Amino acid sequence: MATEQTIAFEVARKDLRAARFVREAVDPQAVAAAGKALFAIDHFALTANNITYAAFGEQMAYWNFFPAAEGQGRIPVWGFADVVASGVEDLPVGERIYGYFPMASHLVMEPVRVSARRFVDGAEHRKGLPAVYNSYERVAADPGYRSEREAAQMILKPLVLTSFLIADFLDDNAFFGARQVLVVSASSKTSLGLALCLKRLAEPGLSVIGLTSRGNRAFVEATGLYDRVVTYDAIASLDADVPTAYVDMAGSAELITSLHGHFRERIVHACRVGGTHWQDLAGRLDLPGARPKFFFAPDQIAKRHGDWGPGGLEERFAGAWEDILASAKGWMTVRRAEGEAAVADAYRQTLEGLVAPDTGLVLSLR
Ligand SMILES: NC(=O)c1ccc[n+]([C@@H]2O[C@H](COP(=O)([O-])OP(=O)(O)OC[C@H]3O[C@@H](n4cnc5c(N)ncnc54)[C@H](OP(=O)(O)O)[C@@H]3O)[C@@H](O)[C@H]2O)c1
Repeated sequence: MATEQTIAFEVARKDLRAARFVREAVDPQAVAAAGKALFAIDHFALTANNITYAAFGEQMAYWNFFPAAEGQGRIPVWGFADVVASGVEDLPVGERIYGYFPMASHLVMEPVRVSARRFVDGAEHRKGLPAVYNSYERVAADPGYRSEREAAQMILKPLVLTSFLIADFLDDNAFFGARQVLVVSASSKTSLGLALCLKRLAEPGLSVIGLTSRGNRAFVEATGLYDRVVTYDAIASLDADVPTAYVDMAGSAELITSLHGHFRERIVHACRVGGTHWQDLAGRLDLPGARPKFFFAPDQIAKRHGDWGPGGLEERFAGAWEDILASAKGWMTVRRAEGEAAVADAYRQTLEGLVAPDTGLVLSLR
């Protein structure tokens, strides 16, 4: 097999607007001879979540998954790939997998712990990184896999497991006594998933309010997933006497400060999840009301594995996932972009918050 020309998209770690493509030649035979495998990345999704990976690249070690030149970073994305060369027993050429990739045409991995369902990239630089990102699903053995659902899977699945877990965590804690839950950056896919999961819980007397920017208000209202939609400039119109929990996908210091300033001690739980407003990310803030706490999904997963036993969480999430897929047909349209120019443009639009909220981007550098 001839040498493969590969291409990868990189950004400057200290300036996410400075992007470039890097070309490298890979010899598939040498990869196989070294007991590794070469994967051709067919397509991958891009949402604000990936920009958050980059914004927290240093702090949360997201840059460590796919090494780049000094000062550069390869942003992780979720996607599908095919084995094109393999020196790994039980992982043949042609096998299709789902998992964590760089925005690139290819990736060399060192599959270990290969089972019928999955394998782990055992590359030295990935040791010690969270297991969830190092594990790759073999789609042929995944009963939930449907080829026609690949786009929805890579766009939504990594997001809405968190949505499900947050709703479950709030429910598990009797909503901390809140009578309303504010969902900040309500147009994001993670927020829409959360709103749907909260709806499924049907907690009597609990109102779910979406907070969003003016430009996205009509879209959020049209989804019908929130009891009410309020724009960021109208926070003062909310009833400050109601015990309130919020779940924050925006991470904006200004928004968090105004929420605590408005509700004060009536903020009974402050759940930080995301950073879609990455240019204004809040650090530690001294605020009235409950102290903002980062949501840590693995804690809730561990708790529910204990409460529900083997497979209990997976079974419950499977039900929510089907409902989310059905709901997303009404509010998400997949937009595909292929090639360097289109990928660079899609990245720029995602970084600057210019992608319409009803769009789910699927990109390819093949
Ligand atoms: N910790 C976890 O485990 C976890 C898991 C999943 C997701 N998350 C986080 O949740 C957040 C949402 O991710 P997503 O992929 O669901 O997002 P998404 O669907 O791509 O969200 C798009 C929305 O985010 C806001 N936005 C995006 N870029 C912006 C910018 N540059 N400036 C201002 N607003 C911007 C806008 O919403 P509004 O106009 O409504 O503000 C926009 O409609 C991310 O920060 C992600 O990292 C965290």
